[in-house]
Amino acid sequence: MLPKVLVTRPLPGDALERLRREPLDLRLWEDEEPPPRPAFLASLSGVEGLLCLLTEGVDEEALAAAGSALRVVSTMAVGYDNIAVAACTRRGIPVGHTPGVLTETTADLAFALLLAAARRVVEAAEYVKAGRWRAWSPTALLGWEVHHATLGIVGLGRIGLEMAKRARGFDMRVLYHSRSRRPEAESALGLTFVPALHELLAATDFVSLHVPLTADTRHLIGAAELRAMKPTAVLINTARGPVVDQRALYAALRAGTIAAAGLDVTDPEPLPAGDPTLALPNVLVLPHIGSASLQTRAKMAAMAVDNLLAGLRGERLPHCVNPEVYR
Ligand code: NAP
Ligand code: GLV
Repeated sequence: MLPKVLVTRPLPGDALERLRREPLDLRLWEDEEPPPRPAFLASLSGVEGLLCLLTEGVDEEALAAAGSALRVVSTMAVGYDNIAVAACTRRGIPVGHTPGVLTETTADLAFALLLAAARRVVEAAEYVKAGRWRAWSPTALLGWEVHHATLGIVGLGRIGLEMAKRARGFDMRVLYHSRSRRPEAESALGLTFVPALHELLAATDFVSLHVPLTADTRHLIGAAELRAMKPTAVLINTARGPVVDQRALYAALRAGTIAAAGLDVTDPEPLPAGDPTLALPNVLVLPHIGSASLQTRAKMAAMAVDNLLAGLRGERLPHCVNPEVYR
């Protein structure tokens, strides 16, 4: 019998063609929308390889639904907070992800959000489209300067570092707070390490989040942290929605505790239509498109296929989040 493989969405690039050429019993969820939870659980039965996206919760329940046949989980994302990695490890299942190939693309989007939120780009374009632009005005649509401002990066990993490089191109002063200090990046890019998060928040004009979502980073930015920021500060989140307490952010944006926010990720995702955050004039929300370039998404899909096929062959995954599974 051919190994049964579940792919939870049509993939970009030639990833699906590659899978179709393999001797696999390939099951594909054909919709552009994620499978509803009951359909996802039902389709896991007897699956040996799972290629999923960040929209699928691969928790204990899902692993139980898959049963003992499951040999590899491969997600087409660098973040893997949707996967119960420890439970996979206990079951001897390696988990693959797609680090590196999306780093610069996601940093580009984070910087685009920073510029757009600071200079009110979307609001200004809507103003023109609505026919409200009558004449050049010395007072309309004034934003905040980006060049020579201070950026605070929270999480100086792959994407955080690329964000720092972009900021240097705008002559920004860059501070960072991260779990590990990176002296080589400090000297190469002139970055300043700030051990206390609140100190970084109080000192910066822009705060950009680049930590993974973990038990330690859930609600890392809550009411107290937002109060620590300057009233003129702009918060950028391209990490994961729950890194920020969404209710506290709404309250802070509404009250003017901070000036604006640019969000590629929210909690929940998507925000329901009618969510009050969407009605605020000082928030720009994008539909989680950090890695959404044609080239990057094709590379991510190819990497996810590489991880999946290696797992099915019993080989070490090229990009494994739980290498302890091999010990
Ligand atoms: P990464 O290289 O692992 O960087 C994460 C950084 O956060 C590391 O430097 C890590 O420190 C630091 N960190 C972890 N926990 C921390 C904590 N409690 N406090 C302070 N710093 C902490 O990951 P990446 O490739 O840059 O990706 C980062 C995240 O971005 C992903 O996990 C994903 O959630 C998100 N993302 C979103 C999009 C999008 O479409 N919006 C696209 C790609 C990624 P260490 O150096 O000590 O490990
Ligand atoms: C996207 O959010 C990713 O983690 O790759």
